[in-house]
Amino acid sequence: MRKKVIAGNWKMNKLPNEAMNFISELAPLVKSAENEVVLCVPYTDLFYSLLHVQDTNIKIGAQNMHYEESGAYTGEISGEMLKSIGVEYVIIGHSERRAYFGETDETVNKKLKKALSLGLKPIVCIGESLEQRESGEAKDIVTMQTKLALEGLESDAVEKTIIAYEPIWAIGTGKTATKEDANETIKWIREEIEKIYGKKVSDSVIILYGGSVKSSNAKDLFEMSDIDGGLVGGASLDAQELAKIINYK
Ligand code: 13P
Repeated sequence: MRKKVIAGNWKMNKLPNEAMNFISELAPLVKSAENEVVLCVPYTDLFYSLLHVQDTNIKIGAQNMHYEESGAYTGEISGEMLKSIGVEYVIIGHSERRAYFGETDETVNKKLKKALSLGLKPIVCIGESLEQRESGEAKDIVTMQTKLALEGLESDAVEKTIIAYEPIWAIGTGKTATKEDANETIKWIREEIEKIYGKKVSDSVIILYGGSVKSSNAKDLFEMSDIDGGLVGGASLDAQELAKIINYK
């Protein structure tokens, strides 16, 4: 049985005092949640958030990391740095990083290997553009992204990797993939993992859906056979709304 994971991705939003107020509001609302509750916050909120989630069931993640341990990479943050302050999760390869900051399948693969070697829990994002969906290329794109992200990993590392299927056309647009399309695409991803690593591994990998998830569609999406929860952008900025998504049942 795969555990459900519901992760908020705040993107470039919220100052430390806002992050702490948010956590104070969210914590009592989700304290009985059976699923894993994760907040992926900006770097500047990490330490404040980590202190503030003590004695709650909320886990903290970063939104990116560098694959090198240290060195002349001005403005970057390493996995070791995240680990040193107690960060548990890290998003890798979000489509906004691929589109605006030169993230490639190759850097995603390097970051994933590094995160896993440090014991960070990676959430690797993949997903097709609208053009690719409309021209019937979605399956090729997501299976290729899956394969390249996981290249060179051992089975036990793959089992620890969380994948987020986020169709680019559904991010921040209010357009959600239908639950059937999202589930079918996630099955394609699972089949690709099965081809390389076998059924035991593909059955155990947690795969999330992301793209305009809100309280009104969370239940429909998360009850599908292959969707193991969500990576939530806009709707994760409001504690009441995020709590409804987390308590979707
Ligand atoms: P929205 O939920 O705002 O569409 O964003 C999804 C996303 O990019 C989460 O990583």
